[in-house]
Amino acid sequence: MQSGGRRGTVLVTGGAGYIGSHAAKALAAAGRPVVVYDNLSEGHRQAALGADLVVGDTQDVDLLRSVIASRGVTAVMHFAAWAAVGESVRDPAGYYANNVDGTLSVLRAMAQEGVERFIFSSTCAIFGEPTEVPLREDHPKNPINAYGETKLTIERALPHFERAYGIRSVCLRYFNAAGADPDGQLGEDHHPERHLIPLALEAALGRSPLQLFGDNYPTPDGTCQRDYVHVTDLAQAHLLALEALEAGRPSTAYNLGNGRPHSVRDVLQAVTRVTGRQVPHSVAPRRDGDPAVLFASNARIHAELGWQPRFADLDVIIDTAWQWLQAHPRKYQDRQA
Ligand SMILES: NC(=O)c1ccc[n+]([C@@H]2O[C@H](COP(=O)([O-])OP(=O)(O)OC[C@H]3O[C@@H](n4cnc5c(N)ncnc54)[C@H](O)[C@@H]3O)[C@@H](O)[C@H]2O)c1
Repeated sequence: MQSGGRRGTVLVTGGAGYIGSHAAKALAAAGRPVVVYDNLSEGHRQAALGADLVVGDTQDVDLLRSVIASRGVTAVMHFAAWAAVGESVRDPAGYYANNVDGTLSVLRAMAQEGVERFIFSSTCAIFGEPTEVPLREDHPKNPINAYGETKLTIERALPHFERAYGIRSVCLRYFNAAGADPDGQLGEDHHPERHLIPLALEAALGRSPLQLFGDNYPTPDGTCQRDYVHVTDLAQAHLLALEALEAGRPSTAYNLGNGRPHSVRDVLQAVTRVTGRQVPHSVAPRRDGDPAVLFASNARIHAELGWQPRFADLDVIIDTAWQWLQAHPRKYQDRQA
């Protein structure tokens, strides 16, 4: 079946995970039929919000093909992957299998079923140590861990898939996804959690103290600076990218952040402002492969797709995560499937 110019169902792989669930919700709110495809290795059934959910693995080409054919899929948003940098260094075989083989399976199923629009969750980890900030799309790409390398491998494969099978793509290179659904239905629930904001909120609640890795970086307060971008703004960028592909626009890649660096200490202070609580923490040695400063230039996605973050303020980002945690102290365990 050829999807041609039709706007059919969107297959959201990894749609029971953190960012994918917010994108699936945004698609549904925009009136787009969605099928969520997730093996639930890291995701949560409840995060699918009652959408059509197929529990399956990205490496199962036959199942993917039958889902594409039976649901009338005309585009794929591909979030399904593992995303822990340290783990990728310890287990590159697993990461290449899940992130590279898994994605190639999705692309193979798309090629076989004639689906020609692909939106790919890429990452700022493809750049490695920055030579200049803010990072623009044409910054040299030298990943320093297996995770970043798996994502760059796919970015580099995509032009070949376009030439051979007509699959046009948009790669969205997120910086640090953060925050939670402002409606309070969705949030971040990783096991173990590795991201600073949910860990800092847990620490503020007195559940587990926070470790801060390195305070002697060449930054104003000595801690690393990162670009926190709200998960709902990321979801919106996916809708814009989908519409661009549906309008016949060419394949491209965008860096996706707010363009504002915030240090680890900035985040801890913001958590205190939002929650009214101190964040107990200790200072641990630097981790290998943590650049001092990473933040995006979002000029291209702003100019070409009109992307404009609605939740760019750090306190607002943290407040949405805090509201979610207060309403669901055990996160998805507190929600009915
Ligand atoms: N969270 C971030 O800050 C960030 C930054 C840059 C890029 N990304 C990328 O965004 C995507 C989503 O990240 P996230 O934070 O939502 O992660 P997540 O772990 O919350 O979501 C990933 C989802 O994919 C599913 N999945 C994993 N492997 C699968 C497989 N083989 N088959 C089917 N389902 C599978 C998991 O069950 C999970 O629900 C990932 O591709 C990640 O690399 C995330």
